[in-house]
Formats: sequence, structure tokens, C-alpha cells
Amino acid sequence: MKCTCYKFVGLSYTCVTFVGITGCGTMGRAAFVLGVVVLMRFSAEALDNGLALTPTMGWLHWERFMCNTDCDADPDNCISERLFMQMADVMVKEGWKEAGYEYVCIDDCWPSKQRDAQGRLQADPKRFPSGIKKLADYVHSKGLKLGIYADLGYQTCGGYPGSLGYHEIDAQTFADWDVDLLKYDGCYLDWTLVGEGYKNMSKALNKTGKSILYSCEWPLYVWPYAKPDYAAIRETCNHWRNYDDVYDSWSSIKSILDWSANHQDDIVPSAGPGGWNDPDMLVIGNFGLSHAQQESQMALWAIMAAPLIMSNDLRDICPRSKALLQNKHIIAISQDPLGKQGYQTFKKNDFAVWERSLSGDRHAIAVMNTQEIGGPRKFLLGVAPGWKLCNPKCNVTLILPKYQELGVVPVQTDLMLPVNPSGTTLLTFTSLNSLNDKRRWRVTL
Ligand code: GLA
Repeated sequence: MKCTCYKFVGLSYTCVTFVGITGCGTMGRAAFVLGVVVLMRFSAEALDNGLALTPTMGWLHWERFMCNTDCDADPDNCISERLFMQMADVMVKEGWKEAGYEYVCIDDCWPSKQRDAQGRLQADPKRFPSGIKKLADYVHSKGLKLGIYADLGYQTCGGYPGSLGYHEIDAQTFADWDVDLLKYDGCYLDWTLVGEGYKNMSKALNKTGKSILYSCEWPLYVWPYAKPDYAAIRETCNHWRNYDDVYDSWSSIKSILDWSANHQDDIVPSAGPGGWNDPDMLVIGNFGLSHAQQESQMALWAIMAAPLIMSNDLRDICPRSKALLQNKHIIAISQDPLGKQGYQTFKKNDFAVWERSLSGDRHAIAVMNTQEIGGPRKFLLGVAPGWKLCNPKCNVTLILPKYQELGVVPVQTDLMLPVNPSGTTLLTFTSLNSLNDKRRWRVTL
């Protein structure tokens, strides 16, 4: 038995243990077996605008700054051009752009309450005195892209002018301003009209001739009444919110993960290059999550091929959260060119396992300890002889909670993984058997 010991930050020494197939019979086994799976196919084409070939990465103001419009009382945190310019500055200076975060996005509460004489949206003149075009120029000068927000109903969720009856004018206005992404919300319209509203804006954006990444919330507004048409959604949008707004709390992250797992057969097949399920913003670096929980959000958002759109204050973020958000190994999983969203494949004994197939005969596995009491618990990743990826062997890399190359593991090996409470241990497996390109995965309980 080979035992590799290392220290988790802030925890006592612990071990990743390689256990021979006969060596571990007495452990509290939470083992699972990997076999052969038939993956579902999805025939719908993605929105053909050449964008979001991998999940979008960027920053969006909503979760952290919400609808704070009081620039007199709170000039540093109100929704103003200054906030977005500062975020763009930090994104370049502090390695965010280099890590892949590209879009600086405005959410609700940016416009004036009145359209102009030509019926166009206009930015609030006090908070955006230079206007959105100038802000886009500034963001572009930093090598970044600008996102903006609108709503297909008669007003936005925050009570600002909606695009109902104006979607063509609004699409053209955003194109004239050189905006690169539109988050299009679905408040204040009957749900039966939401699909048409999303399609109309998609066509209007296309008609401008400018490539504008299109972020939708279409299924979120349909699910309470009917099963959304994911083929149509994928043809219309570059990503789509399915479920409730994220909050800065572990209960919010858990509810999003539970929803995603419970609906994975509906949503996973629709994801792929050009179109992604969007479980909402990363709230890492804020107030509500422990570090282990932040690791869980980052790992699972990567496994789910989710857009990595942070909502936090990049001007003031703790180094550990920053390192996690910029972790190149996790970002590589998120941005894997194969573009296959992962699944939850096991849930038992207060553990949940998620898996994602990656390019180059690689596979990512995330093991979450859902028990919120006690210390790290051991999970035995059982590797069955039928587990072809590791047949005859594979190379294993631990990514969370700490990077470590575990080396070559032959097929009849179990991995003993310590997992922190509400944390996630994340690994990648690279097959050393290049002939097995037809193999599929499944967990057999
Ligand atoms: C909705 C969206 C959020 C945010 C707010 C803004 O709730 O789901 O992401 O855009 O509106 O009002």
C-alpha cells in the first residue's frame, strides 16, 4: 500500500491512499464502480453566432452589487460607470484577464427610467455620465468585452424600461454602443409569450450584424408551467438560466446543485459548444461560503460546463478565493474543448459524485462530502475491472483541495479520498490506453 501524505491548508495532515483491491475491505466503504454508459444524444444545433464555444468567463454586478443606485451615499459600490471601469482595471492588473475572465457585465438598474425621444434606452445620466459607448470603448481598450442587461417584458425585474415593443431598437442600440453580450431577462411578461420574446431578440441581435453573446433566462420562466423546449433554446441562446437566482449562501448553492442533478436528463444533453446551461454566478470571494464551500462551487461549476461569471468585489478579495477562481487546472476542466457537461453519477452516504468527460481521453471526477458536521471523511473511489478508462492504467491528478500528481494507477486500484465537510475533492484521470476511445462511463450502485 502506498500512502502519499500532504497538508490541506488549515487542516491537519491527511493522506491520499492507494489501496490494492484486496487491501481495504474493512473501511466504511462508500465505494462505487465505474462501468459502461450509453450517452444521450442531442440533435439541435447551437445558436450559430460563433460565440461561447467554451463556457463564458467574466464578471457580472448583480449578486454582489444588486440595484444599488445611491451614488451619493455609496459612491464606491453603486451601479455606475466607475464601478465597471474599476473592475476592468483590476481584471487586467490582477491576472483575471490572463486566467480567461473576459466579459465585464452590467446587470439591471443601469438605464434611465425614461427612453429618449427616439424611443431608445439611455443610461442613467448621473451614474453613467459618459454613456455606454464610451464605457465599451474603455473596456475594449483593456482587451476585455462589455455585457449589458435588458428584459423582454414591459419592465425589467428591477422596474426599469423593458424591451417589449422595442426589441429591434434595443438590439440596434446595443450594437451601436459596441456591446458584446446581452443578458436578456424574462420578467413582466406572460410565460406563454416568453419563448417568442427570446427568439425575437435573438433574430434582432443577428440582424445588427454584430456578434453579441446572448445570455437568456428562458427555461427559468417556463419550468413552473411546462417542460422547456431545449432544442429551441439551444438554437436561440448562448446560455440559459434554468433555476432561481444564486445567493451568497451555501443553501443557495446546494439548491442549485440539487436542482441540476434532479433535472440532469433534461438539461445536460442540450449543452455543448455554442450553448450552455447557466446555474448562475460564482459567489466565491464574498461573505456567505466557507472556503470548502467555495471549492465546491468552483469544482461543480467546472464539471457542469457552466459559465464562470463571478459576482464579487475584485477590488477587495481574499487571496485564497482569488487563487481558487484563477486555478488553471479547474478552469481547464471548465473550458475543455470537448464541451460535454458532466453529470451527478452517485449520491449515497452523504457523498455526491459528479463526472465529466474531457478531451484527450481524460475524465474529471468531483466527490462532494455533503455531511455538514465533523471533519474530512474518506471516500473510496472503487475502480472496477470493467472500468475501461483505467484499463490497463491511467494517470491521476488531484486538483482540489490541493494540487498533487498521484501518478499512474492500474485498473485494479481503489483511491481513498479525504473530502472536507461541504467541500469537494476534484481529480482528473488520463487514460494511458489510447485504443479505448469508444468507452463510456457510468456509476453502478
Ligand atoms: C432576475 C435575474 C437576476 C438579476 C435580476 C435583476 O432576478 O434572474 O439574475 O438579473 O433579475 O433585477
